Amino acid sequence: MQATIHITKLRLLPVAMLLLVGSAAVRAEFGDIVLNNVSEQQGMRPVIFQHWFHRIRFQCRVCHNELKFEMRVGATQVTMDQISQGRFCGACHNGEIAWTVENCDLCHTGKPGLTTKIQGGHETKGPGIW
Ligand code: HEC
Ligand code: HEC
Ligand code: HEC
Repeated sequence: MQATIHITKLRLLPVAMLLLVGSAAVRAEFGDIVLNNVSEQQGMRPVIFQHWFHRIRFQCRVCHNELKFEMRVGATQVTMDQISQGRFCGACHNGEIAWTVENCDLCHTGKPGLTTKIQGGHETKGPGIW
């Protein structure tokens, strides 16, 4: 139930986050994860997942235990159907904890041609350092 506690805390932050959403990356920056196992094949831009942005807000185990994301980029088979059903990213991007999956353009922001990888390497230099 730790997850619930952390998720509730986030409700205090929406104003600060809105400012950040305005500058959502259109290309991967250092420490971002590019997910493109299936997106571009299916006519969507690659997904840019700001790992650091999420890591400083949630405990690792929310995603890597409870939501079953592997700790290896590209290893988790994620489909849009599963997300829409509330799994993986959809556990939070459901209009309650974060904006909904209808905002295609907030996740599928990668430049065409980017491959699945972590941008720049495995160490981040930001506040989410671990
Ligand atoms: C444990 C909850 C949780 C999960 C799981 C999650 N997100 Fe998020 N995400 C958030 C919250 C909270 C925000 C901030 C929302 C806001 O500003 O209103 C956010 C913001 C974002 C942003 C905007 C970041 C920015 O710089 O403004 C993107 C893009 C994003 N998420 C993509 C994803 C993708 C892709 C996945 C799955 C690989 C995912 N998220 C999984 C909670 C989550
Ligand atoms: C909001 C969800 C979320 C949170 C919180 C989160 N991660 Fe991740 N992490 C992911 C996703 C998604 C991937 C990519 C998985 C894939 O492609 O299969 C990933 C990948 C990774 C990887 C492989 C890439 C790399 O950097 O080498 C490691 C290691 C990792 N996470 C560690 C952590 C640690 C440590 C924490 C806590 C400080 C954490 N993660 C918190 C979602 C999250
Ligand atoms: C919260 C983030 C997020 C949002 C919002 C989102 N997607 Fe996705 N989508 C993903 C992720 C993660 C994948 C798997 C990435 C990969 O490895 O290619 C994916 C994969 C896909 C795929 C590949 C085929 C499949 O069935 O999995 C399609 C098509 C797709 N999304 C369409 C959409 C459309 C259309 C919308 C808006 C209605 C949307 N997505 C919104 C994160 C998101």
